[in-house]
Amino acid sequence: MLNCVGLQNKGVDYFCANIYPQIKDFDTNMIVNVSGSSPDDYAECAARIDELDRIPAIELNISCPNVRQGGMAFGVTCAGAAQVVRAVRCRYRKTLIVKLSPNVTDITEIARVCEAEGADSVSLINTLMGMAIDIERRKPVLSIGTGGLSGPCVKPVALRMVWQTARAVKIPVVGLGGICNAKDAIEFLMAGATAVQIGTANFLDPAVTIKIRDGINAWLDAHGCASVHEIIGTLND
Ligand SMILES: Cc1cc2nc3c(=O)[nH]c(=O)nc-3n(C[C@H](O)[C@H](O)[C@H](O)COP(=O)(O)O)c2cc1C
Repeated sequence: MLNCVGLQNKGVDYFCANIYPQIKDFDTNMIVNVSGSSPDDYAECAARIDELDRIPAIELNISCPNVRQGGMAFGVTCAGAAQVVRAVRCRYRKTLIVKLSPNVTDITEIARVCEAEGADSVSLINTLMGMAIDIERRKPVLSIGTGGLSGPCVKPVALRMVWQTARAVKIPVVGLGGICNAKDAIEFLMAGATAVQIGTANFLDPAVTIKIRDGINAWLDAHGCASVHEIIGTLND
């Protein structure tokens, strides 16, 4: 998928007043994805979510543009990533996951900075920057020229980055990017991810997450594993 849907939503006040009351009694651990256009913006949003008893964690989307510095994403420089994580860590006490951008030269450097600034975990990857052109109109297909690439085509890149990052940091790594079935998810776990996420595949099959969970369990049973921990980070050299 190539998208430029942006991050439109009604904001944290609306979320706290209208969405949270509807979801707070779900029997699962809910993680809120937080974005911002300045470090203060991120920190304020995180502080509001911190007050919600039933949300044990946030995931910071540091791929957002830094409006004060020409719109370059915070997460593509060590300094930008550090600035956001530091600002949020001062005001957020619960589990802080930082979601990394793959549009960088060395993702392990950014992961190490996030770890040093107090992140409890890193998740990766966000979308890769891509483009498509309508050759009849000689114009980009997407309204803003470029967009975020996701789905099966990004899996090898995501898997490589998860494998590199899991070896570079001590905090847990959440793996994602192109996961469509249990085999894909098991690859990320073996590469060192302690949890996985599924994005684009939900557009093809809204029940895919349940199928993948069941598929992982079936694979573990078939291979005599009592727990998923028996496969995490277990690549043979
Ligand atoms: C339509 C769409 C909307 C997305 N919105 C967000 C978002 O709000 N915050 C975020 O951190 N990542 C967002 N992402 C990125 C995904 O969470 C994920 O990192 C990426 O798509 C790679 O995983 P996938 O191949 O399983 O989709 C979005 C992706 C898509 C396709």
